[in-house]
Amino acid sequence: MKIGILTSGGDCPGLNAVIRGFAKYVFNNIKDAELIGISEGYLGLIQNEAKKMKPSDFSGILNVGGTILGTSRQPFKKMTEEDRNGKSKLDMMKKNYKEMGLDVLVTLGGAGTHKTAALLSGEGLNVVGIPKTIDNDIWGTDVTFGFHTAVDIATECIDRIHTTAASHGRTMLIEIMGNKVGWLTLYAGVAGGADIILLPEIPYDPDTVVKMVNKRLDSGKAFNIIAIAEGAMSIEESKMKKAERLEYRNGRATGTEKLAQYIEEHAGVETRYVVPGHIQRGGSPSPYDRFLSTEMGSFAGELVEKGKFGVTVAMRGNEVTYNKLSDIAGKMKFIPEGDQRVAMARKIGIYFGDEK
Ligand code: F6P
Repeated sequence: MKIGILTSGGDCPGLNAVIRGFAKYVFNNIKDAELIGISEGYLGLIQNEAKKMKPSDFSGILNVGGTILGTSRQPFKKMTEEDRNGKSKLDMMKKNYKEMGLDVLVTLGGAGTHKTAALLSGEGLNVVGIPKTIDNDIWGTDVTFGFHTAVDIATECIDRIHTTAASHGRTMLIEIMGNKVGWLTLYAGVAGGADIILLPEIPYDPDTVVKMVNKRLDSGKAFNIIAIAEGAMSIEESKMKKAERLEYRNGRATGTEKLAQYIEEHAGVETRYVVPGHIQRGGSPSPYDRFLSTEMGSFAGELVEKGKFGVTVAMRGNEVTYNKLSDIAGKMKFIPEGDQRVAMARKIGIYFGDEK
């Protein structure tokens, strides 16, 4: 059996651990298995760049960050666009899947990767997905690998900001990754003891944020910690088109700087913001993610062994299982309205910027 494997989209801790778990399962359980590592995500499949891998290639990578296969972003909407020769990326991928002689393609990726995986599966290719992303926004799985390591890193950033904020009596904003969903900010915010958490799912009122900052200061607290997601928006910004929003934010992709300035001006407190950025995606996976990645990787091996294609691995209720690619592609797991965790945070006095 000839198995192609690729990692696509933004990287995250745990990719190598999944690749290793998958390879170990395959080499231990599937007779005559051949593993083909496809370079840089779907780009390698489009350009026919791949190489046969040996069992030793998968040794020593359990705790290594990034991906040994390389990755790239290949937007889903461009997959079916034709070039001047009338060929699309989808055509190229189908052709190269055949030319490589693959029996199945295993794709490790996020929401976009899953849309393309579903497209390929719909075109008759045998595909098995594995849900990766620090954003934890893939539909149908309680958790994605990489998420909890990012929570650990983002929480450590908040912890470190906490002490300097306290020393100086400042209000500090920490911008946490997640441009569409706020799971990472919610978890790290609660775990890091943030006073205010701003999420893409809950547009905030800057005046309410100022009011909450003042309320804390009036009660004798000398500093404020605000965990703000990349994708958080004020109520006003949430009504704008992307280009208009960019202009309103003076060309900044996120609203963090603008909000920091607003707080400084209107609350009259010294305010700073910090953007940990890709630090949240780099480095070694946590033990939790090493375990989850190994579990998901080996389960994907089992799906391949059983010929269960057109599916992606999922974790539901502490049990590793799968979803049909066609059922989850194009959907996103947002923080739902009335979410239990948000309600809990509100009850212990954390503000979300929408309080009346
Ligand atoms: O999807 C993961 C993610 O880290 C998001 O949280 C973030 O908004 C985005 O990727 C950043 O993408 P890039 O690495 O392409 O800048």
